[in-house]
Amino acid sequence: MISVPYGALPQVGREHAGELRGKIVLETGNPFSRRDGDMAGPAREKGTGAASAEFLPDVRLVRAFNTIPHHELSSQAHRAGDKVAVPLAGDDRQALAMAARLVRDAGFDPVLVGPLSRARDFDVGTAVFGRALTAGRLRQELGLQP
Ligand SMILES: NC(=O)c1ccc[n+]([C@@H]2O[C@H](COP(=O)([O-])OP(=O)(O)OC[C@H]3O[C@@H](n4cnc5c(N)ncnc54)[C@H](OP(=O)(O)O)[C@@H]3O)[C@@H](O)[C@H]2O)c1
Repeated sequence: MISVPYGALPQVGREHAGELRGKIVLETGNPFSRRDGDMAGPAREKGTGAASAEFLPDVRLVRAFNTIPHHELSSQAHRAGDKVAVPLAGDDRQALAMAARLVRDAGFDPVLVGPLSRARDFDVGTAVFGRALTAGRLRQELGLQP
């Protein structure tokens, strides 16, 4: 898992390219121009799936855990009843399956949104970002099959 301020992602990708090559990587970052500078605008425009893939070129990338505020990671984990949904996007089926398992182990409900290009559907600024939705509600909001 890589969870750094988005502006640091290009550097992290470059400096750790060798260790990261071929690995399953869950990446949680969100671009904010106030924090991350000029790179945040283009990243938001192209969507974080495409942007993060450019910064982490040879990994089996899954966008994950970017919509849930850190305090809810502890307060909502394994909650009773319907769990909070964590949307996932990636191009590698095995990586997505592994990410979904990790999300379940962490006490949340994985929702496979689609390929990396669909990560933009749950980027910062979307209607589902930062909201503790159930899987059913998230699917509904994203127009996915129930
Ligand atoms: N916080 C949330 O609620 C939340 C929720 C969802 C998604 N996100 C996103 O997830 C990412 C991480 O968020 P965060 O709140 O955990 O951020 P953070 O506390 O500011 O940073 C997380 C880690 O990034 C490391 N880091 C910073 N610059 C680095 C660099 N140049 N190279 C290597 N490591 C570096 C820091 O390591 P050091 O301590 O060693 O400097 C720190 O441990 C962000 O993109 C954020 O938008 C955050």
